[in-house]
Amino acid sequence: MSKFVINGKRRLCGEVEVQGAKNSSLPILAATLLTKGENVLLNCPTLTDVDAAMRILRYLGCSVDKVGSAVLVNSDGMNRSDIPDDLMREMRSSIVFIGAVLARFRNATLSFPGGCELGPRPIDLHLKALRKMGVDITERHGILECSAPKGLHGAKIALSFPSVGATENIILAAATAQGTTTITNAAREPEIVDLCEFLCDAGAEIYGAGEGTILIDGKSELYAVSHTIIPDRIVAASLMSAAAVTGSEITLSGIIPSHLSSIIPVFEEAGCSVSCKHGRMKFSAPEHMRALSMLRTMPYPGFPTDAQAPLMAVAAVCDGTSVFVENIFENRFKHVGEMCRLGADISVQGKVAVVNGARPLYGANVEAEDLRGAAGLITAALAAEGTTEVGGIKYLMRGYESYEKVLSDLGADVRKI
Ligand code: EPZ
Repeated sequence: MSKFVINGKRRLCGEVEVQGAKNSSLPILAATLLTKGENVLLNCPTLTDVDAAMRILRYLGCSVDKVGSAVLVNSDGMNRSDIPDDLMREMRSSIVFIGAVLARFRNATLSFPGGCELGPRPIDLHLKALRKMGVDITERHGILECSAPKGLHGAKIALSFPSVGATENIILAAATAQGTTTITNAAREPEIVDLCEFLCDAGAEIYGAGEGTILIDGKSELYAVSHTIIPDRIVAASLMSAAAVTGSEITLSGIIPSHLSSIIPVFEEAGCSVSCKHGRMKFSAPEHMRALSMLRTMPYPGFPTDAQAPLMAVAAVCDGTSVFVENIFENRFKHVGEMCRLGADISVQGKVAVVNGARPLYGANVEAEDLRGAAGLITAALAAEGTTEVGGIKYLMRGYESYEKVLSDLGADVRKI
């Protein structure tokens, strides 16, 4: 199991380009099943989750090549509609293939998805919506047998929660369905907008992406496109956190400031200065930061749950007490115990975590148990006196491209062993 060895309290400096967004690449890779011809996806990050999605596409009969940060996918050769258990278990977002496979083959066989254990991760909203679009679904021994013999048809779907994955699955199923689909209480994340831009470039008719109500007018044919994946706003937030805890000044390039509209104010309130111009961000942190105001994770454009762990490492070194309320996932404080091993003073009660900052952190051996928890522990290790070993780096590699190199190039003392 690989780990990071970090000697903390090194100031960072320099400039880094933010990688392409994992959570945009994955649904767009699924969307290539809907298009004829060869798609070119640019700025696609090199991640184990992207590798897993590429393996699924190859298994289904597509031709898939990765040339640097470009992924070429031609799904004309797709010849099956089942995704085996081992491939489905590799990541949670493999559920997003169900809509695209059904749209293409009118049947799909998948097992319940794997991924980070962030509490029970149901897919009831996905299945309820697909049933409304004409899909018969039987669940047996963890296997989903789905069929739509008459093809998918449009429907009016009101989501009880603005689920990102469910919104994506419905869009993928509706893009080539017969008739019109409307989604109310849809997720508004930038990754949804990026998926819809890809699909509209391919000939789909989608209105309202990024809003709470999305309308999709089904089209019979979609054609392959070349598309550049948006930058990863969570990786940007993680790098801002690394600079904040080390009192550093860094520049992030290739960002979209509006995607960080709920993240930038948090750092500014702590005393950091953030200036964005032409897709670049100059970020600088003071020697001592003020405590963060109450941080509630919310659906976009609220504060993102994926940035909660890195920001908790920031809170651990701020002066004063910060409070986090995790409203999205039930079990997303697994990094707390390990952060306390580094000297942080954090107490958790249900979905609330109280962080008493301004305590020195000291190196220790810690173990990550999920993707963003790994980023949070690495951030805390950068602020800790002495040497920290962070295990469970396989989780980090799901979402952060060459993170040890990114941090080392900024001056951190980080080695991957
Ligand atoms: C996406 O997961 C992201 N993953 C997550 O990022 C992110 O944390 C999450 O959205 C919220 O922003 C990808 O895009 C690949 P949800 P997803 O459906 O689609 C409940 C990361 O670190 N729910 O919006 O799984 C669910 O249990 C990952 O990059 C249902 O109850 O998130 C959760 O509590 C982690 N029934 C809440 O909604 C359903 O059918 C949010 O889930 C679906 C979801």
